Amino acid sequence: MISSTRKPLPTDSASILDLKEVRVHFPVGSDWMGRPKGLAHALNGIDLDVRGGETLGVVGESGCGKSTLAQLLMGLIKPTSGSLNWIYNDAHERSSNVQIVFQDPQSSLDPRLPIWKIITEPLFVQRSAPRGEMREIAAKVAEQVGIRTEYLERFPHQFSGGQRQRIAIARALSSNPDIIVLDEPTSALDISVQAQILNLLQELQRSRDLTYILISHNVSVVRHMADRVAVMYLGQIVELGRTAEVLERPRHPYTRLLLEAVPRLGAPLDNAQVAAPTELPGNRQLPTGCFFRDRCPLATTGCDKPQLLAAAAGAIGDNLVRCHLESVVG
Ligand SMILES: Nc1ncnc2c1ncn2[C@@H]1O[C@H](COP(=O)(O)OP(=O)(O)OP(=O)(O)O)[C@@H](O)[C@H]1O
Ligand SMILES: [Mg+2]
Repeated sequence: MISSTRKPLPTDSASILDLKEVRVHFPVGSDWMGRPKGLAHALNGIDLDVRGGETLGVVGESGCGKSTLAQLLMGLIKPTSGSLNWIYNDAHERSSNVQIVFQDPQSSLDPRLPIWKIITEPLFVQRSAPRGEMREIAAKVAEQVGIRTEYLERFPHQFSGGQRQRIAIARALSSNPDIIVLDEPTSALDISVQAQILNLLQELQRSRDLTYILISHNVSVVRHMADRVAVMYLGQIVELGRTAEVLERPRHPYTRLLLEAVPRLGAPLDNAQVAAPTELPGNRQLPTGCFFRDRCPLATTGCDKPQLLAAAAGAIGDNLVRCHLESVVG
């Protein structure tokens, strides 16, 4: 079972990272001159603060920009515009080390390497530890994730799916990161193993003061793990707030649709199930005003006016609801 002991919500915990109006646009296609034919507008004005020690859930349909956000946080891509600022304070002194655990440990672990080398890959890349100490560090981290140290010379195929995900978690931990992005960390695992991995992640968070960004399609995983939830649509955060509030009293029409589309607890949040009047609009050409208005059952005059939306976003204390009808809807 998933552990029922939850850490207290980090209400007052300080921001460690602040994203302001972040956009990421990828050039796509090319004409005969090799010039891009268009842009994929993957992120379209992300405002977000990440707080030390929290688990921030990120949900939204396929293609809404979750992995692009992850890559941005990891420093693998740069914002096209906007800013991403690390905030250094007593609790989080320096560095901006972000690691990631992917969905499928089968494909994310190099099959040719013994696991101690896999676990210490980030240290190797960062050159942050002497080579002679790598094995010892791997042994320490392996122990923390429940992998026996006598297995360090073994290769990924010699482990079960759950053990492989433990190894992936050990790799993410070895460089002592500030933030770990968990991109669907349990969805490739057997049900029986999922809870063990989630419990392990919670234990590690408590003992190592980790901050998690949890990307998940699974509502029950988000409910158990996340302190706050960000709901993404077409490269924007349309709703952000405490997990219980967002899941119990969703305020944005998109969040409502997304949650109504989940027939029972634990079912995946899949676009196939979202009762949508139209398809997810492409991100080549962005709509004006509210991006969701073409699909929104409540759309009315004013939804195409960017200024109304700007006034609505961020209006409700700590929460964000990017909908000018919010007061009417709520
Ligand atoms: N390198 C790239 N070049 C061009 N377009 C890209 C690139 N990376 C992402 N995109 C586009 O940006 C949008 C967001 O993609 P992203 O992978 O972030 O979505 P996602 O929310 O992670 O989806 P999923 O749930 O399927 O993993 C998509 O339209 C995608 O096609
Ligand atoms: Mg993705």
